[in-house]
Amino acid sequence: MTDQVHSGQEYFEHLIDQDSRVEPRDWMPDAYRKTLVRQVSQHAHSEIIGMQPEANWISRAPSLKRKAILMAKVQDEAGHGLYLYSAAETLGTPRDELNQQLLDGRAKYSSIFNYPARTWADIGAIGWLVDGAAICNQVPLCRASYGPYGRAMVRICKEESFHQRQGWEILYELSHGTEAQHQMAQDAVDRFYGPALQMFGPPDADSPNSQQSMAWKIKRFSNDDLRQRFVDMIVPQAEALGLTLPDPDLAWNEERGHYDYGELDWDEFFAVLKGQGPCNKQRMQRRREAHREGQWVREAAAAYAAKTSRTATSALIGA
Ligand SMILES: [Fe+2]
Ligand SMILES: [Fe+2]
Repeated sequence: MTDQVHSGQEYFEHLIDQDSRVEPRDWMPDAYRKTLVRQVSQHAHSEIIGMQPEANWISRAPSLKRKAILMAKVQDEAGHGLYLYSAAETLGTPRDELNQQLLDGRAKYSSIFNYPARTWADIGAIGWLVDGAAICNQVPLCRASYGPYGRAMVRICKEESFHQRQGWEILYELSHGTEAQHQMAQDAVDRFYGPALQMFGPPDADSPNSQQSMAWKIKRFSNDDLRQRFVDMIVPQAEALGLTLPDPDLAWNEERGHYDYGELDWDEFFAVLKGQGPCNKQRMQRRREAHREGQWVREAAAAYAAKTSRTATSALIGA
């Protein structure tokens, strides 16, 4: 090991110890860089793929106001994808390559987005439960040791809390509407509860990389701790909504000071992750189409950028 690498490593360890931030030009271990590229790009892919189930409801949202709100939310998710691709690029892998990994099926995205949004109430359940789980997961990431990732998360979390509230409000209205509307809200929660809890990843015992991510202070809490936090948060919220959560084992545990919850269907989780979910094929097909259809936009933007930088250079040199 050369002196320079050695001092780079020492400085890196010092930054982690001090709860300080690692920045793009700092030396970092290859495995740290690799872990971050994978995590941040998967996160970016999830934001972009996650636009699909909701965009599908923009034209069918029940009022102009709700259409406008949903459209803004879907645009926010696109913005989250852009912040995160930018953060991932600072680690040295170009965006084209990250995008290609998604299109080729080499990169993953959150398996929750392989479930369909069947009814308007599903848009409420996605906002309340999926964006809610995202917040629980992402608030601690605002303190992630890699600077660009942590800073992107601060902006993203602010918007996610609006998303959760709009979902909550959709469900509240339906839950307190007609019997059929109440039933629609309950049915949506019944379908999204399990997959939302699985968004935190496999149980700690089956999540071998978590320990290293926590040592590097990328991750601050384990999958099971975050899942527990989420369950503790949504139980009283479900009561306020007048809806039930589909888990007969859900009960307050006085001794632990937390809610106990039942075993999740991990066979289903791994099957969906492997591509056997209800919408995996449709989501990827749509993403590939959108990429093809966007080709001319990317070319036009690149041509425009080249032209403006030529004009700026000519102005500078007085040509
Ligand atoms: Fe998002
Ligand atoms: Fe969101």
